[in-house]
Amino acid sequence: MKPPSRSWCWLPTGSTTFAALREDGLAAAASGSSLQPIDAAQARRDAAAGGGAQQAEPHPPAASSVQSAGVPLLRLQQAGVRFGEVQALRGVDLTLYRGDRLVLVGPNGSGKTTLLRLLHGLVPFEGRREAFAPQGRTPVLAMLFQRPFLLSLSVRTNVRLGLWLHGVPRALRAERCARALQRVGLDGEARRPARDLSGGQQQRLALARAWALQPDVLLLDEPTASLDPGAKREVEHLIEHLAQDGVTVVMSTHNLGQAKRLGTRVAYLEAGRLVVDLPVDRFFNDVLPAEAAQFLKGELSWKG
Ligand SMILES: Nc1ncnc2c1ncn2[C@@H]1O[C@H](COP(=O)(O)OP(=O)(O)OP(=O)(O)O)[C@@H](O)[C@H]1O
Ligand SMILES: [Mg+2]
Repeated sequence: MKPPSRSWCWLPTGSTTFAALREDGLAAAASGSSLQPIDAAQARRDAAAGGGAQQAEPHPPAASSVQSAGVPLLRLQQAGVRFGEVQALRGVDLTLYRGDRLVLVGPNGSGKTTLLRLLHGLVPFEGRREAFAPQGRTPVLAMLFQRPFLLSLSVRTNVRLGLWLHGVPRALRAERCARALQRVGLDGEARRPARDLSGGQQQRLALARAWALQPDVLLLDEPTASLDPGAKREVEHLIEHLAQDGVTVVMSTHNLGQAKRLGTRVAYLEAGRLVVDLPVDRFFNDVLPAEAAQFLKGELSWKG
């Protein structure tokens, strides 16, 4: 089976499982299902041109002092995402700089996952999304989902399939896979069925699969949700190490302690708006807009 061309993605016909498959790059493994190819770039251009999406309502700008002198990788301007009747994001202005560890926080349904998907370029949107090419090519993005979809295959096949899907030549796959598994401490488990791994190990495998793509930007959706404290720490350390290796990280979490530990920058979302976006120390020490302050107060009273 030939790997799909990079300019195409697979549009699922209604199943959220297939959506997850598509987005973390294993859709082709499900060939024979009712997946349909679409031109993702065209879909995004259509959306950017206003295709079907309604105009975002006027809104106050997010309180922000993130004007890092760093190298910009991605920029959103007045970006909005609508799912039918639901305006999941509205008027988002955000620039992601190389080396950022941007943590997204906010109540359930505030738009964190949607923002990650928008940064990845996987949802139709209104407004502007711009990817820069500081190294002469647009940044490579990889996303880790809250509940990673692992196929009932061996650990290493899960990683190799991801590489195959992204068009990595066969000759490079074995070595890239081995390095990624070693990076997350799963080299001893390469032949085991992926679904036999513990929750923490599965999350590390999903990280390995994403990291093997050699991304410039890792998008992580609640990467430690549902892990026990030990596994949570392990995954946090791993994220920290990947960031130290030079990967730019954007992650969502409900754990403010984790935002403090891992973030260089924290953004608070509410009802689809980016309310505040500040360096981590200022986020936890400055006077914040009322809704963000309220959220912090409520969360900090029961989460460490
Ligand atoms: N595929 C979809 N179809 C319809 N509505 C959606 C879809 N994805 C998200 N939404 C809606 O968009 C809004 C934002 O959802 P999103 O998942 O981004 O929030 P979140 O901040 O990640 O929430 P949580 O903390 O619960 O993970 C919600 O109202 C949600 O119901
Ligand atoms: Mg979410």
